[in-house]
Amino acid sequence: MTSARWLHQTPPRFRDARPDMIPDDMRVPWLAHRGNVIAFGATGTGKTFATYALLAEKDPQIKSWMVTTIDGAVEHFRNGNEHDMRRSKPDACGLLVLDDVGVDTMTEWASGALDRIINRRHERMLPTWVTTNLDPSDGGPLYQYLGNRAWSRLVSDAHVVLMGGKDRRQA
Ligand SMILES: Nc1ncnc2c1ncn2[C@@H]1O[C@H](COP(=O)(O)OP(=O)(O)O)[C@@H](O)[C@H]1O
Ligand SMILES: [Mg+2]
Repeated sequence: MTSARWLHQTPPRFRDARPDMIPDDMRVPWLAHRGNVIAFGATGTGKTFATYALLAEKDPQIKSWMVTTIDGAVEHFRNGNEHDMRRSKPDACGLLVLDDVGVDTMTEWASGALDRIINRRHERMLPTWVTTNLDPSDGGPLYQYLGNRAWSRLVSDAHVVLMGGKDRRQA
C-alpha cells in the first residue's frame, strides 16, 4: 500500500507508520487546507512518527516531500542555486517537514538561510510542517528561536497539533 518512494525516504524506525495512526486533529485540517502544521509536544510523544504516517498516504496534491532538520534544510539550500525550482529542494518541494525544530543551534547564517527558505515557500504557497517541543505561541520559545520573520510566515497561520501522552521511548 505504501509507495516505493515512501519506503526509500522513510527511516526504518518509522516504517510501521500507517495513515490510520495519524491523530485526527492533524489529519482533518491537513486534508482540508494543506497548510502549515506545527506538531508540538514533549519528546517521544510521536511527532515524527505521525509525520511519516501522514506521508504514507499518497496525496495527489503533494508531488514531492522532504523530512529534514533546520540544519539539513539549510545545508541543502546552500549547496544549490537559490533560483533553482527543482522539486527536491527545501524551498520548492511540495511539502517540507522541519523535524525537531529547536534542537539545532541557530547561527546567524542559518537563521538568514532559513528565512529565505521560509519566505520562498510562503510566496509559492507551499506548506511546511514543524515538529517541536518549543511552545509555538506568539512571543513564546518557538518565536524566540525562529525570530519574527520566520515565525510569522511559518506559525502565525499554522494549524497547531498538541501531541500529548507519555514518552513512548520510556514505555
Ligand atoms: N502511534 C504510534 N504507534 C506505534 N509506535 C509509535 C507511535 N507513535 C510513536 N511511536 C514510536 O514511539 C517512539 C517515539 O516516537 P517519535 O515519533 O520518534 O517521537 P517524537 O518525534 O515526538 O520525539 C518511536 O520509536 C516511534 O516509532
Ligand atoms: Mg522526533
